[in-house]
Amino acid sequence: MTRLSAITPSGHAHLGNYLGAIRRWAREGAPGDLYFVSDLHAMTVSYNPARLRKLARETLAVLVAAGIDPARVCVQSDLVRELGALSWVLECTCSFGEASRMTQFKQKADGQGTVRLGLLTYPVLMAADILLQNATEVPVGQDQTQHVELARSLARRFNSTFGEVFTVPRAVMAPTAARVMDLSDPTRKMSKSTQDSAGVVFLLDEPDLVRRKITRAVTDNEARLEYRPSSQPGLANVLEILAACTGRSPVEVADDHSSYGELKNAAADAVIEELRPLRTRVLELLDDPTTLDGIRAAGAERARERGAHTLASALRMAGVG
Ligand code: TYM
Repeated sequence: MTRLSAITPSGHAHLGNYLGAIRRWAREGAPGDLYFVSDLHAMTVSYNPARLRKLARETLAVLVAAGIDPARVCVQSDLVRELGALSWVLECTCSFGEASRMTQFKQKADGQGTVRLGLLTYPVLMAADILLQNATEVPVGQDQTQHVELARSLARRFNSTFGEVFTVPRAVMAPTAARVMDLSDPTRKMSKSTQDSAGVVFLLDEPDLVRRKITRAVTDNEARLEYRPSSQPGLANVLEILAACTGRSPVEVADDHSSYGELKNAAADAVIEELRPLRTRVLELLDDPTTLDGIRAAGAERARERGAHTLASALRMAGVG
């Protein structure tokens, strides 16, 4: 079994990324796994190049600080040649209808004056990431499962049209906190690119700021401390966050607390403690360029070597290269 997943440095990594993804990658990591910073995916909407470079570095430090084996991480753009080639092959396997039906594309394209073509082909590049490395399992949050489904379809289609080259991957989801919601607006997911950061706990936020954001979380006026995601989404979100940090279920957590204030303080304490060692280690790594650059270069080399055979076979079977 080979697991592969990634995080896009389109902003600072947040609690949703950590509880829904990064923490599991660190806990469940095995020798063949690969976790990377998908900086090429951050180019699909308007961005600042210097900021992207900085964020890619910071996000790599987050992956290592979270406890992922440094031998299992890399940065996507270090494989831009391989991924560019495989993306083209897969784009020629994917229909326009399939790509334009992706929920994330529709959401991100909605309201934008100019939609970059890369935003439409984003999931195809993601399929290239997965298929280049022969991944069998792709641990992701709920928002990315549709993209993994597309990677499955493209792998199957290519294999049946041209011959068996790709391993068909499957998405695996976290049991709790697969979708951490924005603390100011529990109807939308916590996101790196949200303009108003009051509802987003960033992994590098100072503890005081984390406390302020969590204690000001929008809940409701009902006096009942019960886990009811559809009617009390704000409360359910705080319960899920505390549950994810303490290894208990949201229902158990609700039973343990008698007021909203007490619950929010307990959630703030748990999140601050969960993030404290991570934050310290990220800051240390960012201060130590030699270590971080060494990890990045070695990771790129390994990932390139690992994907070389699959890329060569795919090009050959497709009648090119
Ligand atoms: P990205 O950067 O949006 O998210 C990284 C991971 O965090 C999860 N996630 C969340 N989980 C819980 N609650 C949230 N509010 C929340 N927000 C994000 C995501 O589900 C994801 O697991 N396109 C991908 C990166 C990517 C990739 C890949 C993933 C590029 N290539 C290949 C898997 C395989 C992305 O932008 O994730």
